[in-house]
Amino acid sequence: MQSKQSIHGSWGSRWIFILAATGSAVGLGNIWKFPYITGENGGGAFVLVYLFCIMLVGIPIMMGEILVGRRARQSPINAVRETAAEAGLNRNWSLIGWLGVLAGYIIFSFYSVVAGWVLDYIAAMGTGQLVNIGSNEAGERFNSLLANPVQMLIWHTLFVLMVVGVVAGGVNKGLERATKIMMPALFVLLVVLLGYSVNSGGFQQGWDFLFGFNVEALTWDAVLVALGHAFFTLSLGMGAIMAYGSYMGKKDSIGATVLTIGVLDTLVALVAGLAIFPVVFANQMDPGAGPGLMFVTLPVAFGQMPGGQVFGFLFFLLVGVAAWTSAISLLEPATAWVVERFGLKRPVAALVLGAIIWLMGIASLLSFNYWAEIKLFGMGIFDLLDFTTASIMLPLSGLMIAFFSGWKLQQKITRDELALKSDLVYSAWLLVIRFVAPVAVLVIFIAKLYEKLA
Ligand code: PHE
Ligand code: NA
Repeated sequence: MQSKQSIHGSWGSRWIFILAATGSAVGLGNIWKFPYITGENGGGAFVLVYLFCIMLVGIPIMMGEILVGRRARQSPINAVRETAAEAGLNRNWSLIGWLGVLAGYIIFSFYSVVAGWVLDYIAAMGTGQLVNIGSNEAGERFNSLLANPVQMLIWHTLFVLMVVGVVAGGVNKGLERATKIMMPALFVLLVVLLGYSVNSGGFQQGWDFLFGFNVEALTWDAVLVALGHAFFTLSLGMGAIMAYGSYMGKKDSIGATVLTIGVLDTLVALVAGLAIFPVVFANQMDPGAGPGLMFVTLPVAFGQMPGGQVFGFLFFLLVGVAAWTSAISLLEPATAWVVERFGLKRPVAALVLGAIIWLMGIASLLSFNYWAEIKLFGMGIFDLLDFTTASIMLPLSGLMIAFFSGWKLQQKITRDELALKSDLVYSAWLLVIRFVAPVAVLVIFIAKLYEKLA
């Protein structure tokens, strides 16, 4: 079993795997979501909890996901089943894979809507519609986009087609090259933006907001959001990383690889925060503005910047690419499974799955206008899908992966597959995946539940 190759292909090198997985990890979660949830949850204390979640929960669970994927070299559903079989366990463990694929589907539906906004902003920046825009105008422009379902539908459709197009082409073509060019470019642009924000007059305030520890702001809600985001931002709990892991080279050490991905993802999120908040404060805008933060404040900043039209255009272009490489990894696990299960050709599988996802996305899209009144637990459809996946399904599926890889798989299997350089690191991993990660997830869940009931 060990020398088996995936029928879908495999990455050319360890670095290509790192870049592809980073392409999956670095997305809207870093540039759009992280800054706005940090803003909504009061800043520094939230960031600190988030960093703990990444280190103590995210990284070890990512190792667990990759080891299962690479062991079996199949789509997540089949990978978990086969690894379970190898370990002499019940085949129903494949439920983990199912939960993941379902969560991925739901996430795609609202992810694509936001990516659609990004595409709209690429067009707006490119045609100079946002030059010298003031904060009020920027807010109005964003709101009028949300009020226009047809416009949103066009972009949503385009985005789904872009993703289907790449997934249809398979593992090796297109994606690898795009990732290699676009990820460093994105990073360079974030640094350029950071330079701008350092000089915006609000940098100190923005820095304090991100890194100043303010205990009062720390609620169980915020902790749950931080945990959920740790999963979301690392693409965990839905088979994306497991699927990418199944295309990974056999001899590469999983530990160092995962650490690199985690560090890059965190860096991008922090730099995005440092690029956005100072501008928010310099313009007396509200850091807790929610999902519109990136779409309202950044255009204002670019509008005033020398060459802002060009930079703004490139920035949204690269956010679009980051979203694109992430969405590809949302569609890939289900596509791989359909190819394995039904023997369909990859383009057909990708197209069928894309069509279903496209349809689901329409519900999210309408929740900003025609269906804005539909609310469950005080949340509209979009927020509800976001909350259910990021705050509930992902932690739950992560918990199951931790339990499966830490407790159920024989240590011989995990030790062999992780291929860590030292025994000490393996023991540390085992300790964290068995106790720390599950306990953290459970405590946060129970505290939340208790708070709701009490
Ligand atoms: N990690 C991506 C982001 O931060 C989102 C994502 C989640 C992508 C799950 C793939 C799978 O934007
Ligand atoms: Na991310």
